[in-house]
Amino acid sequence: MSTNPPEGHPPVDWTKWEPAGEGDVRSPCPMINALANHHILPHSGKGISKSMAVTALTSTINLDSTIANVFASVALTTNPDHSAHTFDLDHVSTHGIIEHDVSLSRNDIAFGDNHTFNSEIWGKVIDSYGLEKETSFESASRVRYERVRACKAAHEAAGKEFGYGVKEFVLSYGESALFLGLLGSPEEGKIPLKYLRVLFEDERLPFKEGWRPSERPITQNDMNHMIFSLIKANEHKAAEAAEVGLGTIHAVENAVTSILPSYCTIIIIGKSASNAT
Ligand code: HEM
Repeated sequence: MSTNPPEGHPPVDWTKWEPAGEGDVRSPCPMINALANHHILPHSGKGISKSMAVTALTSTINLDSTIANVFASVALTTNPDHSAHTFDLDHVSTHGIIEHDVSLSRNDIAFGDNHTFNSEIWGKVIDSYGLEKETSFESASRVRYERVRACKAAHEAAGKEFGYGVKEFVLSYGESALFLGLLGSPEEGKIPLKYLRVLFEDERLPFKEGWRPSERPITQNDMNHMIFSLIKANEHKAAEAAEVGLGTIHAVENAVTSILPSYCTIIIIGKSASNAT
């Protein structure tokens, strides 16, 4: 069964889906894993060029091409072979480039496996939505911040260093914004919880459940709106501002704004900083 793709692109058969098989590799990202499971990215998860990634993100789920280009460029930098023009999905697990602490469905690097879906961690996250049938900026923000606090407590209890600063703050908010926007609600932040479960638990796009790709590209403006709506909805914004080393909410917002237009810009800054040391 096919669906209308963005204008000028061939239809996508969203019913074509199979999980990773032997020898296939996957990442800590539910979306790029789902695209590989749908055979939109190579099912092996290997040998993905920048143009393959950009085409997949723009022509099937309608992410704006500027953002898609930044994601794909950063993904290429995770290949340990710096002369390569492709990346494999497991390369993006490298800690500190895109991968970071406080994931909603993966453990933190200090506790071992930072890339495999962790049903215990995700179970607590999804349970925290309670009886709600759909997300809101308030619930997605609360659930995300609960995870920040749980990770912090776990690091403290284990005497491990917790890596949660401005970069991780924006990435983490950015990822919640991505699932809200790409699963259908950049303005209101309301998507059925079922869609979220299907994306994270099955690594599949919830076409069967009623999801359809956005008819217009999800842009940086959408991302900004969603990130700021999520921040605004966090009733512990002040505590979080202090946690990321910024004294006030205003300073956090300024930090985010100065680092945008693309949340991935921070990744590039972070990467150059770590290369410089
Ligand atoms: C080439 C494109 C992309 C790359 C290389 C990429 C890579 C990554 C990586 C490395 C992570 C792990 C971050 C962490 O440690 O939590 C991640 C997480 C995530 N990504 Fe992507 N991503 C891409 C595109 C997207 C898109 C288009 C979406 C749209 C829904 C998306 C949604 C997410 C979400 C929701 C998470 C958080 C997972 C969690 O917290 O457990 N990603 N991505």
